[in-house]
Amino acid sequence: MNENTKKRYPMPIPFGWYCIDTSASLEIGQVKAVRYFGEDQVLFRGQNGEVSMLDAYCPHLGAHLGHGGIVKDNCIECPFHAWRWKTDGTIGDIPYATNIPPKAREVAIFRYPTVEANNLIYAWYHPDGLKPMYDVTIHPEIDDPEWADEFVAFEYNINCHIQDMAENAVDAAHFKYVHGVVSYPEFEVSYQDQKRTSVQRADMETPRGTIKGQITAFSNGPGDSATKFEGICDTLLLGMTTPVESEKCITRFFFLQKKVDGKTPTGGVSAAIIADIDKQVKEDIPIWEHKKYAEKPVLCDKDGPIAQFRKHYSNFYAG
Ligand code: FES
Ligand SMILES: [Fe+2]
Repeated sequence: MNENTKKRYPMPIPFGWYCIDTSASLEIGQVKAVRYFGEDQVLFRGQNGEVSMLDAYCPHLGAHLGHGGIVKDNCIECPFHAWRWKTDGTIGDIPYATNIPPKAREVAIFRYPTVEANNLIYAWYHPDGLKPMYDVTIHPEIDDPEWADEFVAFEYNINCHIQDMAENAVDAAHFKYVHGVVSYPEFEVSYQDQKRTSVQRADMETPRGTIKGQITAFSNGPGDSATKFEGICDTLLLGMTTPVESEKCITRFFFLQKKVDGKTPTGGVSAAIIADIDKQVKEDIPIWEHKKYAEKPVLCDKDGPIAQFRKHYSNFYAG
């Protein structure tokens, strides 16, 4: 095996809801060729506003619907022979056929369950095509006039398995050695069904005295995560990682900050919080991209609840 084909992780892609785009970047009638979960898809928005993500390949003769396909009414029209497929993946029309053959009525292109929430588009992935088992988190801050009107967004393409990136959150010791955090963070992690919550109290010394700060990180399954920073400048970070292949992910960060005196904060502490998170990801990336999964790690007492994290994460693997 050469470097490119070497598998560093024994785990497949976990099932769950994953962010696949922002609502604003998929307009009515827009078609995109996308790739997630080790498969090719076509993502489009019909004239009625409905989002659909289908397997990419046309059942007729195999054209990729995302490369040259166009939206006609609420169907995607194949670029090769103009067969039209509805948003649910069933046949809409074959423009040159006298009759639609029964076989064409029997096939359906696989449609991924999708939802739009928090100004984002999410798709449900399950390797066996099973239906969604939980709902995405709704963040009320997004429609709250006291919070900024738009996200500050970042995107990272990372060659790593999604589980190892998530494990970072409970890996207490790395905060000091990778991120230069002065003291070991102490956090309490709790689990309920598909959810993980980690609360870290962080008192901050400021010219106006000590401010009680708190960082709460929530995960709702592997792909739907958020961190709330409270104290100096209230910040909500939607941290969405989506597997592209089993060992390759796209991470999208969407920051939203609470307005101060009716205005979205820009410079100062608010900008520093965002810049620090971006810096931390960039510090983690070289480790993530070159590490190998340690199946039986040798741990010490201050390492953080890694075994418990892995046990919970194993719930997201089918079979
Ligand atoms: S391959 Fe799609 S219509 Fe022929
Ligand atoms: Fe980190």
